[in-house]
Amino acid sequence: MAHVNVALIGYAFMGRAHSNAYRQVSRFFSPKLSPVMKVLCGRNAKNVKAAAEQLGWEEAATDWRDVVARKDIHVVDIVTPGDSHAEIAMAAAKAGKVVFCEKPLANTVREAEQMLAAVQKAGVVHMICHNYRRAPAVMLAKRLIEEGKIGQIYHYRGTYLQDWPVDPKVPLVWRLRKEAAGSGALGDIASHSLDLGRFLVGEIAEVTAALETFVKERPLPEDPKKKGQVTVDDASAAVVRFENGALGTIEATRFALGRKNYNRFEVNGSKGSVAFNLERMNELEVFLASDAGPVQGFHNVMVTEAAHHPYMKAWWPAGHIIGYEHTFTHTVYDLLEAVAADRVPTPNFEDGVRNQKVLAAMEKAAASKKWVRV
Ligand SMILES: NC(=O)c1ccc[n+]([C@@H]2O[C@H](COP(=O)([O-])OP(=O)(O)OC[C@H]3O[C@@H](n4cnc5c(N)ncnc54)[C@H](O)[C@@H]3O)[C@@H](O)[C@H]2O)c1
Repeated sequence: MAHVNVALIGYAFMGRAHSNAYRQVSRFFSPKLSPVMKVLCGRNAKNVKAAAEQLGWEEAATDWRDVVARKDIHVVDIVTPGDSHAEIAMAAAKAGKVVFCEKPLANTVREAEQMLAAVQKAGVVHMICHNYRRAPAVMLAKRLIEEGKIGQIYHYRGTYLQDWPVDPKVPLVWRLRKEAAGSGALGDIASHSLDLGRFLVGEIAEVTAALETFVKERPLPEDPKKKGQVTVDDASAAVVRFENGALGTIEATRFALGRKNYNRFEVNGSKGSVAFNLERMNELEVFLASDAGPVQGFHNVMVTEAAHHPYMKAWWPAGHIIGYEHTFTHTVYDLLEAVAADRVPTPNFEDGVRNQKVLAAMEKAAASKKWVRV
């Protein structure tokens, strides 16, 4: 088995999720390529060294430019806030690295397009981390749709709800600042719902939307006695029309008290419906109009049988459920398989650009109160 040296840029929330994925992919799968957790990069030497030791990286570094220039690095994995994705990804592509980047791909369509152009020009493998595509229940929804079991799709209803900044005392962290995050609930979590909509239903042709910022000022993290302006949306609600005629709604908010990471979708077609909720991610709700009348109704399919569901052979005997972190392991597994085969996996930077265009259209629609073509 060949080895591939990975550099991870960033090491907080997603850094931990991706580190875990590289560890697990080696342990559970037999990929053609095995990742070597070579270098972890942060900004604070002491903290990144401690994180590298804890998370299992061979080395720690503090300047991503040095890391990207290293000849022995094959994959550059970017888990920093959105304002640095473009610069790091383009430098990594130019240096001939495989580029794996967290969502949203960038903070603007222009940056996303530049990133796509850079990876295409360099001819390197690229992938964006929309990890929820790799939940086995989501893959089952995709399979049922592709097999025609759901029929012609009429509706997609994507909902992503959180509640972490409802308290106005929550400081003005980078996710609440446009220059760092690009947008708020929109780019952070609606991006996942719209990516799932594109994955399951198809391309989005036009949108109309509303955005709202409920708490307009917050304490500054560096000086809590002072306040700064929140420059992103707390909530977004969009109506979307797919190219195939399906109608969709995509709602994302960080102000749904009690909802922690409620990522749900429902697809309704002419022959049936499917519904998924990340909080019960081992199940897919399925309704088939072809079921006999007396037993017709939504039923929960436990998506844990290795014989029927992708990725599950890597884990436990049937019924022994998996969790959030496994979606990242599956994504990294598919990335490594693609690198071994020298092909570009999905979702990739082309998906990242398409998603970014939908996000931009939603912002434009919210500002103009009109329908906007993507
Ligand atoms: N796929 C998902 O479900 C998912 C979930 C959460 C976050 N994300 C995405 O992951 C990215 C990071 O989010 P997070 O929640 O991990 O943020 P975070 O604030 O927890 O971590 C960001 C990390 O980036 C580091 N960093 C920032 N600038 C850097 C630089 N110039 N050089 C090196 N390190 C730098 C910070 O030190 C920190 O370690 C964002 O793009 C976010 O949208 C994706």
